[in-house]
Amino acid sequence: MKSTKIDTLGECTFPSPARYRNYIKEKTVVLYKAEFSSPEEFLEYHNMEPVYFEKSGPSEKIYFDPMWISCGIVTCGGLCPGINDVIRSIVMELTYRYGVRRILGFPFGYQGLVKKYGHKPIELTPNVVSHIHRDGGSFLSSSRGSQDISEMVDYLVEQGIKILFCIGGDGTLKGANAIYEEITRRDKKIAVIGIPKTIDNDINMISKTFGFSTAFSKSIDAIYAADVEANGAPNGIGLVKLMGRHSGYIAVNSALASKDANFVLIPEVDFDLEGEGAFLPTLKQRILSRGHAVIVIAEGAGQKFLQTDGNDPSGNKKLGDIGKFMRDKIIEYFHEKNIPVNLKYIDPSYIIRSMPANPEDSVYCGFLAQNAVHAGMAGKTGMVVGMWNNIYTNLPISLAVSERKVLRPETSDLWRTVLASTGQPDSMLSRASL
Ligand code: F6P
Repeated sequence: MKSTKIDTLGECTFPSPARYRNYIKEKTVVLYKAEFSSPEEFLEYHNMEPVYFEKSGPSEKIYFDPMWISCGIVTCGGLCPGINDVIRSIVMELTYRYGVRRILGFPFGYQGLVKKYGHKPIELTPNVVSHIHRDGGSFLSSSRGSQDISEMVDYLVEQGIKILFCIGGDGTLKGANAIYEEITRRDKKIAVIGIPKTIDNDINMISKTFGFSTAFSKSIDAIYAADVEANGAPNGIGLVKLMGRHSGYIAVNSALASKDANFVLIPEVDFDLEGEGAFLPTLKQRILSRGHAVIVIAEGAGQKFLQTDGNDPSGNKKLGDIGKFMRDKIIEYFHEKNIPVNLKYIDPSYIIRSMPANPEDSVYCGFLAQNAVHAGMAGKTGMVVGMWNNIYTNLPISLAVSERKVLRPETSDLWRTVLASTGQPDSMLSRASL
């Protein structure tokens, strides 16, 4: 595994003005591995060099003198519930706990850091942000796509920014890492801190991204509707497509919470359509025996059936529309078999990510934002705040973007529970392809 060590700008010499009872002890670590197959394995692990993360929290001494610094906030990539909670909490923590007097919000993602776009920075004060958490979206707006790294660093230097908070998912964090590397190359004392935003919950080594809980909770409405419709007609089939490009966490968690799904199809689990044991014959058995079915499919599932070209501005491969494809395939299959079905297709699309954060996410956003501020004030850089084993952590951005977090069906308790809850078979690959 890549190093988990956090880079710093230098020695912390200023006593922190933020009065906290429990400052973080500099060397406190959070173990990567929390489960061992036996006490012997545990002892063996501890005799080796265990892998651990730095714990997040306020430091007694800090690197920057808060009176004289400016901080910047940028929000990039797709929208996500909780962005405004994070912006608000960063501003409140910087202002009230540390006494920072100049905080700039750069509008429209990384475009806001490139002069030629002409997006003027917004001065963020407690008055400006005090109620923004009640709204969905981003108070600063967002954009996808990378920008010229050198131009962005020039602008940060020109604006006198000493800590840049980058709120975003994989693409944003890759951008933040490039900014951090350029700053390091120029030997500038500017900290770059990421805050992990994505409804997909797919950031490596972070147990939960903010916005995920709200998004999967909202998805339940669509599954309920699909279940009502499926039960409201002979041979009713409710098909729900949910976001989740590489990881099926939204589909899996909303299915588990609703308890109505009979099939959950996710990018991590391959399936075939036809042939013995494949999806369509399995659905047929369910319809013939139970008279209704609810299917939840993540947008990244079954992409092998679709042809697509190119990437979106964030560098993500463009996906084919698996929802409509499955709708048509199911209708065609049952028509050929002469079995009348009533299929209702629901795609809640952006509805699941455009609302304000639910209370759980809202609290989480506050913690992440405060820890991001603590890290930045202590001169930590090139890092993202996160959570591991239920403890807040600081993680090098390079590690967070080194791979996507995906559900691992072979070892995951979550997937085992999905199989138990839905009753779907372990595999829906056609026997012929095995
Ligand atoms: O990455 C988060 C996400 O919401 C994905 O689930 C979805 O595929 C994607 O963004 C869609 O975003 P947009 O249409 O804004 O590019």
